[in-house]
Amino acid sequence: MSSVIEVQNLMKLFPSKRGLGTRALDGISFEVKRGEIFGLLGPNGAGKSTLVRILTTITRPTSGTARIMGHDVVHSPLEARRHLAVVLQETAVEMLLTVRDNLLIYGHLHHQPSALIRQRMDSVLDRFGLREKQHEKVNDLSVGMRRRLQVAKVFMVDSPVVFLDEATTGMDPLIKRETLTLIREEARRGRTIFLTTQLLDEAEALCHRIIIINQGRIVASGDMEALRSLASRMFRVTLTLAHPTPAVYNTLRAWNPLSLDSEGNSVEMTFKGEESHLLAKMADLSSQCPIVRFEIRGADLEDIFVELLGAK
Ligand SMILES: Nc1ncnc2c1ncn2[C@@H]1O[C@H](COP(=O)(O)OP(=O)(O)OP(=O)(O)O)[C@@H](O)[C@H]1O
Ligand SMILES: [Mg+2]
Repeated sequence: MSSVIEVQNLMKLFPSKRGLGTRALDGISFEVKRGEIFGLLGPNGAGKSTLVRILTTITRPTSGTARIMGHDVVHSPLEARRHLAVVLQETAVEMLLTVRDNLLIYGHLHHQPSALIRQRMDSVLDRFGLREKQHEKVNDLSVGMRRRLQVAKVFMVDSPVVFLDEATTGMDPLIKRETLTLIREEARRGRTIFLTTQLLDEAEALCHRIIIINQGRIVASGDMEALRSLASRMFRVTLTLAHPTPAVYNTLRAWNPLSLDSEGNSVEMTFKGEESHLLAKMADLSSQCPIVRFEIRGADLEDIFVELLGAK
């Protein structure tokens, strides 16, 4: 079977009255297969939401092509839309309707059979902790509750593809965990999930494959293994020092860390190199200043991210 999402050389230029305008997407190509959880990462302004908006037929690309289940988002937007559900970054729920009616209407608009809507409603109200609020108007809900409802909506339907633009932002930890569980369940059932996130540990825990974009271009892509290998021999060190003096900080800086942050007696650093060299340096340091606590671990996605963008 061909890919569920196919993107070829996608460009988006937002013109401006003065200057060259903004090149939000600058030639992006990738494919996503059925049942994959695909993560799109990048700093603020990288072009993530623009890409989601193009793939969900809300914004037109300047050039390039994108297909959802084989349907071109520009030439066959209705067919493309029929196969997808989307949670946009900005909230879109009917403020004057109740929670329950929002869910019902969303299910009907997506042409779901009534029996499925009833069955899904029960599960969605429970899993998103919305049952007690089901008869309240959205207008009267807290911001976090509105976000729950907005994300809950896409689980009312059975579309083959789901787009989530920073879906868990503003959720409390319990609901966030439940949302991640739901996403995994849906992917196991064969739904394809395309998500953007600023939360690198979330991507690391959830995604089968990711791409990192910056200034509208792909700067890295692959599975988590491939991304980790980008950051091989990269270490993050946390130190608590008994009496840090300016001389101690000079020593630390002379080691040329990729990053160095300090607060009170604690120092966080990222290094590239051999672990044994790093341990030898620590031993030297401890003769200059007692080390109360020392922790070393391999790089995580956040370190990879900083390294990739810093290298540009
Ligand atoms: N409607 C628009 N008109 C003009 N410029 C736009 C428009 N939408 C987005 N942009 C610009 O395109 C670039 C990419 O924006 P986009 O919202 O896609 O980034 P993002 O990666 O989603 O960022 P964030 O992490 O902040 O959500 C930015 O420079 C933004 O200012
Ligand atoms: Mg965005």
